[in-house]
Order: sequence, then structure tokens, then C-alpha cells
Amino acid sequence: MEPASTGLALESVTKSFGGFIAVNDVTLSFPAGAIYGIIGPNGAGKTTLFNLLSGFLKPTKGRLRHRGQDITHLSPEAIARRGVVRSFQITSIFSNLTVAENIVLPLQRRDRGGTGFLRKSNWGKRYGEEIDDILRRVHIPAEWRDRGASALPYGLKRSLELGISLAANPDILLLDEPTAGMTVRDIVKVTELIGQLAAGRTVIVVEHNLGVIADLAQEIVVLQQGQLLTRGRYDDVRRDPRVIDAYLGTKGRHAHA
Ligand SMILES: Nc1ncnc2c1ncn2[C@@H]1O[C@H](COP(=O)(O)OP(=O)(O)OP(=O)(O)O)[C@@H](O)[C@H]1O
Ligand SMILES: [Mg+2]
Repeated sequence: MEPASTGLALESVTKSFGGFIAVNDVTLSFPAGAIYGIIGPNGAGKTTLFNLLSGFLKPTKGRLRHRGQDITHLSPEAIARRGVVRSFQITSIFSNLTVAENIVLPLQRRDRGGTGFLRKSNWGKRYGEEIDDILRRVHIPAEWRDRGASALPYGLKRSLELGISLAANPDILLLDEPTAGMTVRDIVKVTELIGQLAAGRTVIVVEHNLGVIADLAQEIVVLQQGQLLTRGRYDDVRRDPRVIDAYLGTKGRHAHA
């Protein structure tokens, strides 16, 4: 099978908000089975691109394909059911629920379709092992399982978000700034974790932390002002004068983001 047909692709995709063009005629494919890094200055259109790929926004122009099929007009739920799952730049944890309950919601959603919701019935019996397995995979200690998610330290909250995404068993995982706001120690842990979760999947990760991208991604996509500036291997991309201008020119703004 053609690799491109097994992955995710944008064909001449434009997204305007009123008169403002956030994503400008982007053609891009993500063949299955690799880790891709998306970089670019603040406002380059990275999150908008994720919203388009996951169906939360519809393109003004152009098409989206998954495994060669046109998914342009599918709902976010239908796209998620196809195995394309995103995490959010802003936290998606329900702080009024326990750690385990946060994982049950996407498990139920996966099994039932539509939105997950908690029944008092014995989901623990049905999903208990799966929950434990997911917590193990994202390295959340078992003693956190039935405690309120709001009490988790920041690094473990981000791990829980990965667990929530993983519960849907995605075949393509979109991660928007998974290390944002983390300490250096947590960044190292989460980077390693993402590398592990990527086995057998396609991962597309937006990151301002170039060290994370350099460690993880086989291929880098650079966006600037809604346009595709370039794509390629990290070592080639980082030497590209256009990338240095576009990206490093605004580094001061990212450094403390
Ligand atoms: N719903 C919206 N309505 C209007 N403008 C929007 C909307 N969403 C995004 N934009 C604008 O589109 C541009 C791209 O935003 P986007 O969030 O995709 O950037 P980004 O690359 O993710 O930036 P950051 O690195 O800061 O997260 C920005 O100028 C933003 O203000
Ligand atoms: Mg963003």
C-alpha cells in the first residue's frame, strides 16, 4: 500500500476566521508509522491545523484525507472513531473526577460512541484492568487511581492527559504542546513516554521545545503565518535560514511560555 494513503493528509487546506487566514493553502501528508514534529512561531496556525485534522474546525477550502478516504465533512466524533485522536493544548482533565474516572470516560466513548458519561454501575469491573494498564503505561502510580485528579502534581496531570488520549486507542495521536509548563525533569519523562506510546502508531506533536522535537520526531514540519515553510529532517530544518529567521526570530516569546 502507498504509505501516504495509510496516513493523514491535507490537500490545499485553507482556514479563515472572518477575514483572517489562519491556515493558508497547506498541502501536507503524514504517512503512517512515524513521529512528526510541528513547529513554528506563536500564531503560526499549529493548533488550528490540529483542529482541522481532528474535525473540530472545518476548512474554508480544501480537503482532508485519512487512509486515502475523504474525511473533510466528518464530525470530530466520527474522525475519533476512525482512530484520529487529539489532546488539547489546554488541559482536558475533569478535576471533579478521580484519575480512574477520567480514563473511564474515553473508554466508554470508544465503546458506545457519542459522549462518555459516568454511571454509578460497576464500570470498575468492566474497565478496571484496562484502567490499570493505561495508568501503568503512562507511569501514574497506582495509589493515584481513586484519588481526585485535581490533586495530581502538574507532571502527572500531563501524563493523565496522555492516558486519556491513549484510552481511545488511537492509530494517529495528535499532541498539542505536551510538555508546556513542565519542569526539565518532567519533560525528559514525558518525552520518553511519548516515544513509547508511539510504537505502532502515528504521532504528530506540536512543540515549542526543540529539544523534545529533536529527540522524538523523524520529520519536522515548519509553519509560519499559516503557511508551510518547509519540512524535513530536524538537522536539515534547523539549518534552514528561513526557519532560523521565522522561528528563532521570536524565540524570546517562547522561552518563558
Ligand atoms: N477561532 C478563532 N477565531 C479567530 N482567530 C483565530 C481563531 N483560532 C485561531 N485564530 C487565530 O489564528 C492564528 C493561528 O492560531 P493558532 O492557535 O493555530 O496558532 P498556534 O500556532 O497554535 O500558536 P501557539 O504557538 O501560540 O499555540 C492566530 O493569529 C489566532 O489568533
Ligand atoms: Mg497552539
